[in-house]
Amino acid sequence: MMFGFNVKKTRKDFDVLSSGVIYFDSACMSLKPRQVIGKMNEYYEKYPACGGRSGHHLSKKVEDEVDLARREVARLLNAKIDEVIFTRNATESINLIANALEWKEGDEIIVSDKEHNSNLIPWLKLKKKGVKVRVCKSNEDNTFNLENFENCFGEKTKLVAIVHVSNLDGVENPIGEIVKIAHKNKSLVLVDGAQSFPHKEIDVKKLGVDFFVLSGHKALGPTGIGVLYGRRDLLEDMEQFIVGGQTVIDSSYEGYEIEKLPNKFEAGLQDYAGIVGFGEACRYLRKVGLKNIEKHLNKLNKIVTEHLGEEKKIEIIGPKEAEKRSGIFTFNVKGMKAHDVAKMLDASKKIALRSGAFCVHSWFNDRKIEGAVRVSFYLYNTEEEVRTFVESVKKIILLV
Ligand SMILES: Cc1ncc(COP(=O)(O)O)c(C=O)c1O
Repeated sequence: MMFGFNVKKTRKDFDVLSSGVIYFDSACMSLKPRQVIGKMNEYYEKYPACGGRSGHHLSKKVEDEVDLARREVARLLNAKIDEVIFTRNATESINLIANALEWKEGDEIIVSDKEHNSNLIPWLKLKKKGVKVRVCKSNEDNTFNLENFENCFGEKTKLVAIVHVSNLDGVENPIGEIVKIAHKNKSLVLVDGAQSFPHKEIDVKKLGVDFFVLSGHKALGPTGIGVLYGRRDLLEDMEQFIVGGQTVIDSSYEGYEIEKLPNKFEAGLQDYAGIVGFGEACRYLRKVGLKNIEKHLNKLNKIVTEHLGEEKKIEIIGPKEAEKRSGIFTFNVKGMKAHDVAKMLDASKKIALRSGAFCVHSWFNDRKIEGAVRVSFYLYNTEEEVRTFVESVKKIILLV
């Protein structure tokens, strides 16, 4: 494992890159370094047992490894260990909160107009219980509008569910200010950190958030593992969502005694390989340094923006300034379908990126835009790859 950050060295940890792929789809899912894959194999080869139930040495090893993984996640979030709940992904974490909080008719939830379906549909579903969902409109350039936000609050606003870094355009929302306003209005705050956790230093205590959710697969981790961070006092008071084995200390035919945190919310046999793999991913991120990763993404985004931002046939989604879009460059080539642009880039230079609505259909439908092409960088991308992309796009725009 290397210390510090060197892209060339980093790339050696990602075998798939030797195929020549230019992987610009990390906002959808990041690649996984061999250390993470190795850790998962270690589970299956050396201690492939069940944690927390049997008392034998293999089971104890699983428990210890899960504990270490939880500590790694807690360390990256600056959370307490029992405030880290393992889930399948950010979506499940959000659904857990939507189902575990108590809702009364007339309660209100505020979301932004740029939420991923995973941070919109669970709230819209609560409309059936009489809950109202208010949508806070962004500025013209898609940055957050604090004034609009303040105006969204009503007497019964119970929760603000807001994305940290947008998967649509990379814009970071001012969570510190959002939390202050929300708490002044006696409302809880859930932050969707699926796109910020992979490349930003996060301190849930400093941010003051009540809940923070993330997906392991976007942060060098395996698929099928995610996290819910929740303030301990809130989690302790909250109802369970999925219940069964592991979530109770004892049961009778009449009732049951609820487990302590974090087990209270981790029902059934867990994805141990996924958990230890994600712990390793967190260790990797910590050693590389999230500030280094963030800086690297900004540098790459600046290059692509400098070369394509002024092109008349290119429309950028989000602010023009690269530094406001972290590691994401979303665009359209005027007169061309987004899927066609993506297909041409893949076929000509093995550039793998995403086209469509990126699960933010609501934003696209509201703007009457069909879709877009999204480039999303990560720590293994190089300036050379960016230049290849720029040249390829310049060739494509000659076709229209
Ligand atoms: C901002 C944001 N929130 C939530 C999600 C949902 O993540 P998952 O599908 O891993 O639950 C994504 C995934 O693209 C995302 O980008």
